[in-house]
Amino acid sequence: MNVKEALTQLHPDDFKVLYAIEKRLKTHEFVPIELIERDTKLPLHRLERSLYHLNKLKLIRRMSTSVLGYRLTILAYDVLAVHSLMRRGILVALGEKIGVGKESDVYLGIGPGGVKLAVKFHRVGRQSFRHIVRHRTYKEEENWLLQSRLSAAREFTALKELFPRGAKVPEPVAKSRHVVVTKLIEGAVELYRKPDIKDPVKALIDVLETVEIAYKEVGIVHGDLSEYNIIVIPETSEAYVIDWPQYVEKEHPSALQLLRRDIEYVVRFFKKVYGVPIEIEEVLTRLGVSGSSDRCDTRESSGH
Ligand SMILES: Nc1ncnc2c1ncn2[C@@H]1O[C@H](COP(=O)(O)OP(=O)(O)OP(=O)(O)O)[C@@H](O)[C@H]1O
Ligand SMILES: [Mg+2]
Repeated sequence: MNVKEALTQLHPDDFKVLYAIEKRLKTHEFVPIELIERDTKLPLHRLERSLYHLNKLKLIRRMSTSVLGYRLTILAYDVLAVHSLMRRGILVALGEKIGVGKESDVYLGIGPGGVKLAVKFHRVGRQSFRHIVRHRTYKEEENWLLQSRLSAAREFTALKELFPRGAKVPEPVAKSRHVVVTKLIEGAVELYRKPDIKDPVKALIDVLETVEIAYKEVGIVHGDLSEYNIIVIPETSEAYVIDWPQYVEKEHPSALQLLRRDIEYVVRFFKKVYGVPIEIEEVLTRLGVSGSSDRCDTRESSGH
């Protein structure tokens, strides 16, 4: 069951119930049925039918110790985000999955007028949860939902600062819960696939200018820049820097090291794959941060 399948099987009562449970996310581990009844104002027989249905679809989990209560699953959180984006008129339809990252799933979305969108579901710490998926406790899952929501909020904030300043990043459209919606960059390919770029120098300049805008104008460092977080349109040689939730502020003690490392990865990749002759020190001087010789090569590439 995925979010699209789940959405097609839900009745308006089911949404009422999910929203009512979500409302108590912070205060209740399991929301007692009486509270759901009060918040949804549904007659008991309809409420029970909905709870049964939601439980079968694995959108809620039930707990019956002293009182009977319910909580949301991660799938339900996906459903709520997509449903609310649709109600707000941002998303008309959800399409194919177009990307699976370490910490996200990215889907194609269709907005009003057929505009193509990228819908990114943040999934913080997914890898560390995979092996214990069946035994996940409430605290872990709650933490997971909140962490993923925080990650989405950070990415959205960064994009909203970067995009209007001319940085080559996807245009931010909206955010709901742990989901960030941006305009789709059509025809873009991940740089790690080494596409045949018409003018690789232009692509590299796009990236370096974005790094410069981020650092000098917004005051942030990407912190996970590599060929895995750059997408390129081979025909036009335009390059975009994606995946911003882990950015650090300029004032952060590791900011300079991260900046140098980000630039090193990109420059090295363009040199190796496309033969672009450019020196790291040149770029750093331009950013006004040269002179520092402390290197930091310990990071593994952020690939899959
Ligand atoms: N706006 C966009 N336009 C086109 N494709 C996009 C867009 N946003 C994301 N993608 C696609 O989705 C993939 C994953 O996106 P992103 O890097 O943001 O997620 P991620 O989970 O953080 O990845 P990882 O953690 O593995 O680096 C990208 O490699 C890209 O192919
Ligand atoms: Mg990525």
